[in-house]
Amino acid sequence: MKPKKSYPKEVYLNGEWLQPEAAKISVFDRGFMLGDGIYEVAPFYRGKPFKLKEHLDRLQYCLNEIRIDFDAYSLEKLIFKALERAGLTESDAAVYIQVTRGVAPRTHHFPEKVKPTLLLYVFPVKLEGFEEKSWKVSVAEDFRWYRCDIKSISLLANSMANEEALSTGFDEQLLIRDGYFTEGSHTSIFFVKNGRVYTHPEGPEILSGITRQVVLDLCKELEIPCKEKALHLNELPEVDEIFLTGTTTQVMVVDSVQHKGKEIFRLQGDSVTAKIQQAFIERVGE
Ligand code: PDD
Repeated sequence: MKPKKSYPKEVYLNGEWLQPEAAKISVFDRGFMLGDGIYEVAPFYRGKPFKLKEHLDRLQYCLNEIRIDFDAYSLEKLIFKALERAGLTESDAAVYIQVTRGVAPRTHHFPEKVKPTLLLYVFPVKLEGFEEKSWKVSVAEDFRWYRCDIKSISLLANSMANEEALSTGFDEQLLIRDGYFTEGSHTSIFFVKNGRVYTHPEGPEILSGITRQVVLDLCKELEIPCKEKALHLNELPEVDEIFLTGTTTQVMVVDSVQHKGKEIFRLQGDSVTAKIQQAFIERVGE
């Protein structure tokens, strides 16, 4: 089912707090014209940030990778201000941050001395109760670029994958590159096979998910054996559990997987996922 979304009450754009309809950017903004920008989404549990430093670290890494001269850490104060202005200091919420290279005549190369465009807003999210849900997912070819470690605002391929899944009755699409599962359209993938947890190793094929790292840390603490190794589509019959992670998705159990119209996985029991979900709930509540 396609979830309904609404606009935030206010956004911060290049130094100004504005109503969404009053926030305007140039048609020559490189984010608009070329998708030349980076974004981040970080959560707040009852007003408390969770892994904000890690989100800012990733934002800074991505900005550095595409050579946008911007200090991600300078945003910290502004993020809390936005949370306050949105009246969400006691609720579950998330901050959306987008930095584009800025406005310049259209060129393929990076223009010099351009001021980056900053957009930031806080919006409410429902973070409670994820452990009571489960997702039905489909599988398709991962035809994204080969720098998926960069959280680029150019999300067309992710968006096409998600649209295909949601418009055909699924909740998410899992992506495969050369037969190996990489990640979901907006989530990281974990498999449980013979009591061991598997997820794709970091690199250009996946986004280094912050929730992914939290889960890897929790597995260590829970003494659940864990391996950062990609799983092949052919290995799916040996898989016992699958779960997806993400900032707003958190830790979502998968109850079935379809590929080319055929069911290739059905959940039998979710004991490992449930253990991780419980530990995750405790971690975010600390
Ligand atoms: N999506 N992989 C992809 C392609 C993603 O877009 C995301 C997050 C993740 C999970 O990363 P994290 O645990 O750091 O949220 C993995 C965000 C939330 C989004 O696009 O809205």
